[in-house]
Amino acid sequence: MTADLTLQIEENYSALSRAAARLVIRQLEEKPDSNLVFATGKTPLGMFDELAAAYQQGRISFENASLVELDDYYGIPLEDPRNLFNWLRRDFLDRVEFPLRNTARFLTDTSAPVEECARIEQFIAASGGIDLQVLGLGPNGHLGFNEPGSALDSGTRVVRLAPASLESSQRYWGEQPVPEYGLTLGLGTLAAARKTLLLVSGGAKAGILHKVLSSPLDPCLPATALHTFPDVLVLADREAAGALGD
Ligand code: F6R
Repeated sequence: MTADLTLQIEENYSALSRAAARLVIRQLEEKPDSNLVFATGKTPLGMFDELAAAYQQGRISFENASLVELDDYYGIPLEDPRNLFNWLRRDFLDRVEFPLRNTARFLTDTSAPVEECARIEQFIAASGGIDLQVLGLGPNGHLGFNEPGSALDSGTRVVRLAPASLESSQRYWGEQPVPEYGLTLGLGTLAAARKTLLLVSGGAKAGILHKVLSSPLDPCLPATALHTFPDVLVLADREAAGALGD
């Protein structure tokens, strides 16, 4: 583990969500024009609720912030409920009146995905880099849609989703199939972020969290790339931390 990776354990999911929201609020107090990246998935939902409540109470403003989409499904248009920017809007952006002009999303129905990925990289560069990214941990150790085998210095690109990811994402979409291809910020792109918050909740993640924190850099386990990121806080609840020992 690097000296820049800190582990913080919270009693339960509610406490984890509150702690995550506090860190986002502090980030925006210190730098109101922060450039943010937020994962979708189930884990950040509690944090989004906390941020929406803080916004309602006038404790946070996203007026000057910007946001880059972490990942999305290739070929799934914005109107489709499975589109991840659509998810981010429903659960977060619209609830805090995040200015959409300050967001960069993947144009998932493009016929030129390579150029689209380059455009997102350019947005990140032009906005001065990522200040804070809040990520989740995949059941197979993926980060964003960086699946096992991803190069640690990979850039934003089109990827084929791993079977384990397709299986675990099925719970989001009920009867609808999980799209097989994604667009994702690369591990090298994420490694340049100034701060990273990794949220991990629930006993089902205990084994993979232990593996990620105790393994050296390993492309078969993409989240081990976190060991090279400059400033990482892993926020886990007690259940997720269950295999870490004392
Ligand atoms: C979603 C994403 C994924 C999830 C991960 C954990 O945008 O990038 O890497 O963060 O699969 O998902 P949950 O939180 O649903 O367990």
